[in-house]
Amino acid sequence: MKPPAHTPHPSRSAAHLLPQGQKGTPRRAVLLSGLALAACGRASVQAAPAAAPLKALVPAPVGVAVMRGQLEDTAWTTLARREISQLTPEWEMKMEYILAQDGGWRFDAPDRIATFARASGMRLHGHALIWYSQGQDWFEAIKPARRAAAFDDYIAVVAGRYRGQLAGWDVVNEAVAEDGDGLRSCHWSAQFGQDGYIARAFAQTRAADPDAVLFLNDYNLENLPRKGATFLRLVERLLAAGAPITGIGTQGHLDIDIPAGQITAFMRDAAAFGLPIHVSELDAPMGAGLLDRARRDARRALQTARVMEYAEAFAALPERQRYAFTLWGLRDGDSFVNRQGGGDSPLAFDDAGRPTALHQALVQGFSAPATVRKERG
Ligand code: G3I
Repeated sequence: MKPPAHTPHPSRSAAHLLPQGQKGTPRRAVLLSGLALAACGRASVQAAPAAAPLKALVPAPVGVAVMRGQLEDTAWTTLARREISQLTPEWEMKMEYILAQDGGWRFDAPDRIATFARASGMRLHGHALIWYSQGQDWFEAIKPARRAAAFDDYIAVVAGRYRGQLAGWDVVNEAVAEDGDGLRSCHWSAQFGQDGYIARAFAQTRAADPDAVLFLNDYNLENLPRKGATFLRLVERLLAAGAPITGIGTQGHLDIDIPAGQITAFMRDAAAFGLPIHVSELDAPMGAGLLDRARRDARRALQTARVMEYAEAFAALPERQRYAFTLWGLRDGDSFVNRQGGGDSPLAFDDAGRPTALHQALVQGFSAPATVRKERG
């Protein structure tokens, strides 16, 4: 699919990027409001006004995944404006959207999201330029001699378009093998080599946007310690080779059955690089059988423990390393987890916009005094 002729992008004045973190309700007030809600039991959670906004609680920008359609839903936009300070396009800034079926390139949806973020005083996080799971048909339809130029041009056009509008990019997504044994083979690695395509993507993105934080992003880094270790060895190797990786993205699609401490251990090892860390796609599915009250309560307890651990581990980072804490959806019904069937509660708000138990876990995790975090850590 032929990309448009590459016209130089009008230089954009750097959009106002929100300062790190949000000034707002003192943390103690947030804790009291949250605990008061919890102490009053279920009924009051439904009746009482929501706790203080997440963006006043979390010591960094609070992100959420967004799709253009949600911007036409005033319930979504009202809740997001109250709670959230950063947006990540859930799918419409990826190749699957931009490289349209008709051979053109589509930017209407990501542009709409960027405009909404700016108008709402929210930061924007770009997701995702190069991913093993997208772009194969497009790339392999290009003559081999032109593929390198096409790869570079895609990044130049897309990253160039949003230069000055976003705080950071997921430059390469999910490069590590599913089981953590080495890296994934894909159409990008077939062309440029396994480390090669990653290094090239970072170099091209840095050329297109000198200011964005450039992330290597992956999942199961805390759920599977072997995968987390392989990921960090990859970061180390690429940095040593001069790749401009300036951020570490841990998606945080939590397996709530993991032992206590794995999250803390990965975050500690990741923090050792001294780079900004993005918890980039947090959700904590509880799985099936939730209609059974005893099972639901047991799953909620595990979810609460692991989400609190993530919040505490993130809050324990030095401020310069707390890039953002992003939830992969605003309300439970927005979660991709609930798109086949539904019924799970993996996010911080229910479909009526009321705080869930996961929200309470975030309140407790981010309100724990540093001494407690240290003991738990
Ligand atoms: O909205 C359209 C609909 O109009 C159309 O009829 C339908 C069929 O073509 O597609 C719908 O769009 C889908 C979109 O999700 C919204 O549901 C896309 O096809 C589908 O590909 C897209 O899936 C997204 C997926 O990444 C692939 O991009 C999910 O929303 C999104 O949650 C998921 O997010 C990934 C992260 O990028 C990386 N980490 C894992 C995470 C979960 O898989």
